[in-house]
Amino acid sequence: MQTRVTEILGIQYPIIQGPMAWLTNAEFVAAVSNAGGLGILGPNAGQTTITRDPQETAERMRREIQKVKALTDKPFASTLVVDYDLTYTWPILQVVIEEKVPIVLINGILDERIFTPLKEKGIKIVYRPGNPTIADAKAAEDFGIDIYVATGFDEGGTVPEKIIGTFSIVPMIVDAISIPVMAAGGIGDVRGVRAAFALGAEGVFAGSVFLPTVESPAHQSVKEKIVNATAEDLLLFRTLPAYYRSLPTELVHQIVERDQAGASREELAKLQNGGVGMFKGMVEGNSQEGFISVGTGITPIKAVRTVQEVVNELMADFK
Ligand SMILES: Cc1cc2nc3c(=O)[nH]c(=O)nc-3n(C[C@H](O)[C@H](O)[C@H](O)COP(=O)(O)O)c2cc1C
Repeated sequence: MQTRVTEILGIQYPIIQGPMAWLTNAEFVAAVSNAGGLGILGPNAGQTTITRDPQETAERMRREIQKVKALTDKPFASTLVVDYDLTYTWPILQVVIEEKVPIVLINGILDERIFTPLKEKGIKIVYRPGNPTIADAKAAEDFGIDIYVATGFDEGGTVPEKIIGTFSIVPMIVDAISIPVMAAGGIGDVRGVRAAFALGAEGVFAGSVFLPTVESPAHQSVKEKIVNATAEDLLLFRTLPAYYRSLPTELVHQIVERDQAGASREELAKLQNGGVGMFKGMVEGNSQEGFISVGTGITPIKAVRTVQEVVNELMADFK
């Protein structure tokens, strides 16, 4: 069944696997695209070491893009993180254009300098701001982006600063613009997909549900923890820019303790150690020094499945 989202992106089902720092290598992304959804390479895709060099960052992304192309002939996307400092964005933009990546996920702000070259090359743009607002959605529509992702506070990863759940943010954005809106945050099974469509979304954008899959680069112990957990296990703490949630680890217990003692957001963010804490916790399975970021939709996930099985279940109504 075609929807505006499947038509724009040239995919079979209206489902996108969201970028997840460190946790989206070529094999995983290609598996999502081969299953009929859209796989997206996220920051540090396929990497096991950190580089701070923008050119090297882009060349690593080029190698991962080339691997995806070898594994699938279906559409896939790369992430462009766009903030006020474009040091890392420029070289990745160049690589995306040179490698003819058909779709880009923009995470961050709308910037004409990035947007215009993408449009000129006919690259489709999915825009997922960290903080969706009515004004931002209208501006994005005026800019000419193809699809807007409305993310609720239920999501895994860095949550929006305003505490608006997926159930509330999706209809709010749907009513504000006429381009297709996809729902992100807390979608764990086909009931979540149905709810998103009932709220006016024309597709779903999911991360956590893809983590405990055979193809996911997450550590085996992390996959097991996710399938054995419910949303009640999640711990929420203050950090920068707002809040973060994680399954319990030794590190997270320490952060929560400092949070309850009134520590500053800066101190808590330092303890959390951003991408390093995610890499240690989720790729290495190190619960002393890392965290396990997932959304509140994990409760119905009860087994480690293949990506194809996850897509089949979520997209049951689109067969
Ligand atoms: C472990 C993890 C890491 C994430 N990293 C990123 C990231 O680097 N960039 C980004 O734009 N979104 C990131 N996200 C958000 C996802 O792309 C997606 O929006 C989110 O997972 C949707 O909510 P859900 O997890 O409840 O499905 C991350 C999510 C998770 C769970």
